[in-house]
Amino acid sequence: MTTIIGISGSLRKGSFNTALLNAVVQLAPGSCKIEVEHINGIPLYNGDIEASEGIPSVVAQLKDRIAGSDGLLLVTPEYNHSIPGVFKNTIDWLSRPPDDIGRVFGNRPVGLIGTSIGPFGTILSQVSWLAVLRALGTRPWFGRTLYVSDASHVFDESGELIDQITRDRLQAYLAGFSEFVHQIK
Ligand code: FNR
Repeated sequence: MTTIIGISGSLRKGSFNTALLNAVVQLAPGSCKIEVEHINGIPLYNGDIEASEGIPSVVAQLKDRIAGSDGLLLVTPEYNHSIPGVFKNTIDWLSRPPDDIGRVFGNRPVGLIGTSIGPFGTILSQVSWLAVLRALGTRPWFGRTLYVSDASHVFDESGELIDQITRDRLQAYLAGFSEFVHQIK
């Protein structure tokens, strides 16, 4: 059994990306357990707070959860053709202090998917993430991509994934990514 931490990069209650992560939990292969973690409660990064108080406990706990996992799945929105600040802020906190980056991110298999209401399904946001994943020394999975466009028609009002083509693509993505995680484990 492999354990993958899944994080949605939106704080919105009705977030399509959180809905996509919920679909991940439903559609993941039986050999793979998806554990959902949240970015709610992560403070804005401030070097003065880090210097005076150290790493906030909510950040330290999330770092330990990732460090204890076999892989990480980021479910990213796209804001202004790039990474939403709240999600990047979380990763920035998780990368502190620098000498702990290896424990949390080093060689960690990372999957990247996302959904947006527009026609391009977070392509540009996902491209922006690549520089971050490289900086942290992760092992991104490049076997497939999943850009879910037109989110308001792919999910229903309760957040259920109702588009069969997207379900099939997500399932194929998860099969490939979990196999990659299993091989590296
Ligand atoms: C957006 N949105 C958006 N969508 C997109 O496809 N490309 C983009 O560049 C942007 N830019 C953008 C900027 C800002 C500030 C906001 C608030 C929104 C729309 C975005 O896809 C939509 O709000 C999604 O619903 C956000 O994801 P969640 O919160 O539903 O997971």
